[in-house]
Amino acid sequence: MKNYLKHDEWCIIEEGFHREYNEISESVFSLGNGRMGQRANFEETFTGKTLQGNYVAGVYYPDKTRVGWWKNGYPEYFAKVLNAANWIGLKIEIDEEELDLNTCEVSDFVRVLNMKEGYLERSFVATLPSGKQVKVNAKRINSIVDDEAGAIRYAITPLNFEGKLHVTAFVDGDIKNKDANYDDKFWDEVAKETAFAEGYLHMKTKKTGFHVVTAQRIKVYQDGIVRDFQSLPEKREKYVANKFTLDIKQDIETAIVKFACNLSSENYATETLMTEAKSYLAKIATKGFDKMVTEQAEKWGERWKMNDIVIEGDVAAQQGIRFNIFQLNQTYSGEDARLNIGPKGFTGEKYGGSTYWDTEAYCLPFYMATSSEQVARNLLVYRWKQLDRAIENAGKLGFNQGAALYPMVTMNGEECHNEWEITFEEIHRNGAIAFAIYNYINYTGDEAYLGEFGLDVLVGIARFWAQRFNWSEYRKKYVMLGVTGPNEYENNVNNNWYTSYIATWCLKYTIEAANKVKASNPARYEEITQNLNLKEVEEFEKFQAIIDHVYLPESEELGVFLQQDGFLDKELIQVKDLAPADRPINQKWSWDRILRSCFIKQADVLQGMYFFEDDFTIEQLRRNYDFYEPMTVHESSLSPCVHAILAAKLGDKARSYEFYQRSARLDLDDYNNDTEDGCHITSMAGTWMSVVEGFGGMRVKEGKVTLRPFLPENWQSFAFKIIFRGHILTVTTSSEEVTIENTAEEAITIVLYGEELSIEANASISAAIVAV
Ligand code: BGC
Repeated sequence: MKNYLKHDEWCIIEEGFHREYNEISESVFSLGNGRMGQRANFEETFTGKTLQGNYVAGVYYPDKTRVGWWKNGYPEYFAKVLNAANWIGLKIEIDEEELDLNTCEVSDFVRVLNMKEGYLERSFVATLPSGKQVKVNAKRINSIVDDEAGAIRYAITPLNFEGKLHVTAFVDGDIKNKDANYDDKFWDEVAKETAFAEGYLHMKTKKTGFHVVTAQRIKVYQDGIVRDFQSLPEKREKYVANKFTLDIKQDIETAIVKFACNLSSENYATETLMTEAKSYLAKIATKGFDKMVTEQAEKWGERWKMNDIVIEGDVAAQQGIRFNIFQLNQTYSGEDARLNIGPKGFTGEKYGGSTYWDTEAYCLPFYMATSSEQVARNLLVYRWKQLDRAIENAGKLGFNQGAALYPMVTMNGEECHNEWEITFEEIHRNGAIAFAIYNYINYTGDEAYLGEFGLDVLVGIARFWAQRFNWSEYRKKYVMLGVTGPNEYENNVNNNWYTSYIATWCLKYTIEAANKVKASNPARYEEITQNLNLKEVEEFEKFQAIIDHVYLPESEELGVFLQQDGFLDKELIQVKDLAPADRPINQKWSWDRILRSCFIKQADVLQGMYFFEDDFTIEQLRRNYDFYEPMTVHESSLSPCVHAILAAKLGDKARSYEFYQRSARLDLDDYNNDTEDGCHITSMAGTWMSVVEGFGGMRVKEGKVTLRPFLPENWQSFAFKIIFRGHILTVTTSSEEVTIENTAEEAITIVLYGEELSIEANASISAAIVAV
């Protein structure tokens, strides 16, 4: 755990240059706008530890799979998001010396990520080996208004000399992914152009053929006034630059403004990319840096109005939740149904920028409640578009007749994961995709979704489960063998309770959904059954037989569901009895020891009890929670949030808060020692859930928002907003009372602590807190 970032309500602040943590800071201070993202690399040269990272949404490369022992069914390629051309580069030379924060003396260093207005700012004083001192202030944005653009204002002031400033402003496309399997480079150059103070680099990905033009345009100001300058273009393989030299005087500021854009063939016809880039740059340069920054602040202001969570009385918690919300907004804007949310967003390469079950299980609730309905719908449609691939994917594993297995990890619908125990066995992901359809319709009331897209996906998933269960003559039950549950510290187990439970639920929900579509839109139903070649009677009979005779392991004696067959044979010890030196077990223990132990990586049985809470009594939840949580090491970032919600439900405020903190400040405090690889974006949505579903107790039941808020001990109050079927509800909880404001032209009925209450249009109600 680190503690070098200052607590502040709206900003992330690093005071003093922590060179040793630079890669962590590069992740934490990242900027993104849903279309492109950039780690907080320095503009000027830095020869210390760094991971240069610039990512363009939707642009990926199928790297050839690397495994020790090939197994049939593995994907041959492993699509990963590409580290793309570096657009921020500014080589700064002062007389004969290059500015490099790794080699010069640095003082007064401050790095600020301003989340309220969406910019990154850095200032410092550098003393070069010659003794010359310069003050630098660098500010940059990844615009959320012009979302293919970024802009930098890099200001440099000599403090004790006058001399020559040589600037090389460049775009460098000679970039390699750190996670490349064979050290290959994935980009080829197509074309490049330079003009006075402009540079254009047209690159193309190997194999996938995505084209991206990254371009720059430079302006210079001295002492606040636009300055004419002579620029010398420079070109080499995969690189364009504009070089210029300026006279600089003591205490006079020289500011280099760099406008840049990344346009991809995903959004423009390839042959027009160069001309589009020219007009794009002309547009933003005319707008100017200051206006871009003002517009950015305004647009972030609008976003915060919709999805801020305000916590009074705990600055660390306030900063934590805002950081999570900020990063989620930087990663996915929901405007483009081809895009999704990688576990690290645009902040690093780990997990290849691909889509995991994290999206459906963790991210959907956040986007559903804080953005327009279309945003959540787009996340679902993304999977619908990949249904054919999921059917192909199941086919490769021997399933047939339209059975669909969605990939564990994907970029374009194909499986991109190749560890057999996960690729072939961690099949519960299919369940989360079906559950998200239910969750979306339950929240939005958009029943039409089933007929439009939902049923197709549900039938594919249900068919897979129907084939994946097998009848056990011995048990006279349907069993599911050889699976990995959400707890990846168990592999190839039989009858993982969570997987079998969610699979059975999928079968039930598919029948229910089919009946709904049939009743509401018989013609569409007919069309779907024909398209899917659905033999309703026969197939649904099979589904029903499994539902009626599924084997779900449990111990009557302990009153708990069993994570899998044989779980009770393990030595049941608790995490609190583990020596600190043994943790995290995934770094300290052999895999074999982990597999044999009872220790649980993340919610497994409890994940099921969270999704399907109405199926269980509070007593059942308590027994299972008390049994499993003490054996849970929470070594997945997705773990604490589910436990925060369940602890809140069980009335354990202190534990709930503890889990919240762990999730909210995971990256800011580098809790798991891995933030240098990128931030845990998908678990950030879980942090939001901890506040809204945990402390706020928010659920949607029978079309109504239900709430059961409580105030964590050390807070004075907290307030969150949700968008619900055309209403914006603001829920503010203090130690005494809860106030719910309805900003809509229509009244709404909500359920507070079990009691139905009506809130008039544009009005609010208050009620006393009820102890949970
Ligand atoms: C977790 C998975 C998750 C993945 C990506 C793993 O550590 O166990 O549940 O999907 O990370 O976030």
